[in-house]
Amino acid sequence: MSALNLVADRINALEESATLGMSKKSRELAAQGHKVINLSVGEPDFKTPKHICDAAKAAIDAGFHHYTPVAGIPELRKAIADKLKRENNIDWKPENIVVSTGAKHSLANVISCLINPGDEVAILSPYWVSYSEMVKLAEGKSVIVEGKFENDFKVKPEQLEAAITDRTKIVMYASPNNPTGSIYSEAELRALAAVIEKHENVFVLADEIYEYINFTDEGHFSMGSIPSMKDRVITVNGFAKGFAMTGWRLGYIAAAKWIADAVEKLQGQVTSGTNSIAQRAAVVAWEDTSAAEMMKLAYLRRRNLVVGLLREISGFKVNMPDGAFYAFPDVSYYFGKSDGNVTIKDADQLCMWLLETAHVALVGGGSFGAPNCLRLSTAASDEALTEAVARVKAALANLK
Ligand SMILES: Cc1ncc(COP(=O)(O)O)c(C=O)c1O
Repeated sequence: MSALNLVADRINALEESATLGMSKKSRELAAQGHKVINLSVGEPDFKTPKHICDAAKAAIDAGFHHYTPVAGIPELRKAIADKLKRENNIDWKPENIVVSTGAKHSLANVISCLINPGDEVAILSPYWVSYSEMVKLAEGKSVIVEGKFENDFKVKPEQLEAAITDRTKIVMYASPNNPTGSIYSEAELRALAAVIEKHENVFVLADEIYEYINFTDEGHFSMGSIPSMKDRVITVNGFAKGFAMTGWRLGYIAAAKWIADAVEKLQGQVTSGTNSIAQRAAVVAWEDTSAAEMMKLAYLRRRNLVVGLLREISGFKVNMPDGAFYAFPDVSYYFGKSDGNVTIKDADQLCMWLLETAHVALVGGGSFGAPNCLRLSTAASDEALTEAVARVKAALANLK
């Protein structure tokens, strides 16, 4: 019997992370002495703001070393409730907030708590790779609703209407979006909400983790702020992207009490309250948002740089991301072309070819539900971005 047969079926059914093969190849090339530029990462290249780090140090020194309440320390739940009221116009009490070990954990908790086997989750695509795997783990069924390049990768209300069935339990989306950087405007979210409202047993999982990296004049809008949707929207957010705190592992949900209670119950049996030091540190995050603002401006500058450079590559179709720190060009022009050795069939293969020939690590769109596109992270210096795109352009000139 192979070791694989000993692993539970539900784990064997999961996909490996899309970046795993690329990371392995990157390491091999680096070990051979090649200078690989890695633009496959999904995390800020900035440090966590100092006032947050200072609060963490103070928590350690004060002996704040023990288990916390499962749903989070009261002062953090209150700070989050205050933030949601102040910035998002969502009026929940601290008891509606559950703090978890990253927004990823928050999302997985909610899906586990709401999905019965066979229930459907309508995922607005392109989507973050883990969504469909979390649904699979809960024995649900993902229904992918495609946001097309021509519509800035956004789903139209009539598409959502057509995707909702009697089995639909959740509609799930990220705005600002990973991988596209697209942002649903208030009008677009209200139009989607109007569709969902007609189906009384459908909930919304609104992933707002990139909220602070928003370049639009309109700013961020939360579907959870629509009064008639309040009880049905589970707002998910965290500290990873906006405050450059990926390693601290802190995310949260804001939801109707019965959902928050279910998540707390699950979490109480599986992970307990998240890291005490990180929670104490996060309480002060909103006391100074200047570093978050500075990071946003850096991402904006880099977006303009990268999109300009990518648009000079023949055959690339490049949308203008309104937020997050990714560019997501359609590269299908190169499918069927060959360097005399390898014939490119999709963006995943093109990524591997670019890594091998140009030593630039990107992520193919296949696992984001967009096999014509590839994702380039702008969480890197201007020099690295400029050099990477120049290498990609030079390599592609060899595909005929
Ligand atoms: C769309 C989206 N949601 C959630 C997460 C997870 O965030 P966290 O690090 O807080 O778990 C990520 C991380 O890449 C993401 O891109």
